[in-house]
Amino acid sequence: MTHLYPKSFARFYDIIYHKQRDGVDNEYFLNEIGQTKGKILELGVGTGRLFADALNKGADIYGIDISQAMLDVLSEKLTEEQSKRISLQNMIDFSFDYKFDLIIAPFRVIMHLLKKEEQIKAINNVYEHLNRNGKFIFDVFVPELNQLIKGLDNYTDFEGEYEKGKKIKRTVSTKPDLINQIIDIKFSLEWDEDNEIKHDDWITPLRFFFRYELEHLIERSEFSKYKISGDYRENEINQNSKDFILVCKKQ
Ligand SMILES: C[S@@+](CC[C@H](N)C(=O)[O-])C[C@H]1O[C@@H](n2cnc3c(N)ncnc32)[C@H](O)[C@@H]1O
Repeated sequence: MTHLYPKSFARFYDIIYHKQRDGVDNEYFLNEIGQTKGKILELGVGTGRLFADALNKGADIYGIDISQAMLDVLSEKLTEEQSKRISLQNMIDFSFDYKFDLIIAPFRVIMHLLKKEEQIKAINNVYEHLNRNGKFIFDVFVPELNQLIKGLDNYTDFEGEYEKGKKIKRTVSTKPDLINQIIDIKFSLEWDEDNEIKHDDWITPLRFFFRYELEHLIERSEFSKYKISGDYRENEINQNSKDFILVCKKQ
C-alpha cells in the first residue's frame, strides 16, 4: 500500500523544505553530483529541491517518483526537453535501458519502503542499474528515543508566508509503532486562500531503522562494499548523529 504525497503537500513542499533542509544535505549531494562524470539518477526526486539545481549546473541527471503531484510541481520548473528526464516510476521496480554512475535517494526516501522485501528489491534494482564503480547514496534519520516513546502532539514545525501576505502553518503529530518499526506521521496544513483558511491533513507511515539493521540490509543485498556515516561530511556515527548516510559501491 502506498501513501502518495498529495497535491497540497506537493504545492507547499518547496516553501517548507528549502527552509528546513537546505544547508543540511544539499551541499553534500550537489557536490557528489558535481563530481560524477556520467549519468545520475535521483530516486524520489519529488519537486526537484536538489534536482533542479543539479540540472542547472549541467548534470546529466534523471529522476523518478511515485507521486504525480510532486512531479507536476517539478515539471513546472523544467523545459519540455528537461521534463523528459523525469518519470513516474516506483523505486522497487524502476527500469531504464541505460546504467548510471551515481544513484541517490536523498531525504529519507527509503524510509517510505515499509517491508524488508520491498527494501531489498529496491536496493538490488539500484545495483542492477549501476555501472561498475558506481555509487548508491541514501540517508535515513537516526531514531530519537524520546520521540519513539512519546511521539509528537500537534507540534508546529513551520509558519511563514507562501505568497506576500498569505500565511501558511504546518503542524505535525506522530504515533510510533515500535513493534513494526513505523512512525505514523500526520501533517496538517493550514493556509490563507480566497479570503478563508484552508486545511488539509495527510498521514504517512515512515519505517525507521537502527544502525545494525541498515548494515545487515546492505550486507544481504548485492552490494558488498559500503560505508555508513553519521553526517553529511561523512564523519563517523556518534551519539549526536541525526542521520545515517549510506554510501554503497558496486565493484
Ligand atoms: C521526502 S521526499 C524527498 C524529495 C527529494 N528527494 C528531496 O530531497 O527534497 C520523498 C519522495 O520520495 C517519493 N517516494 C516515496 N516512495 C517512493 C517509491 N516507492 N518510489 C519512488 N518514489 C517514492 C515521494 O513521492 C517523495 O516525492
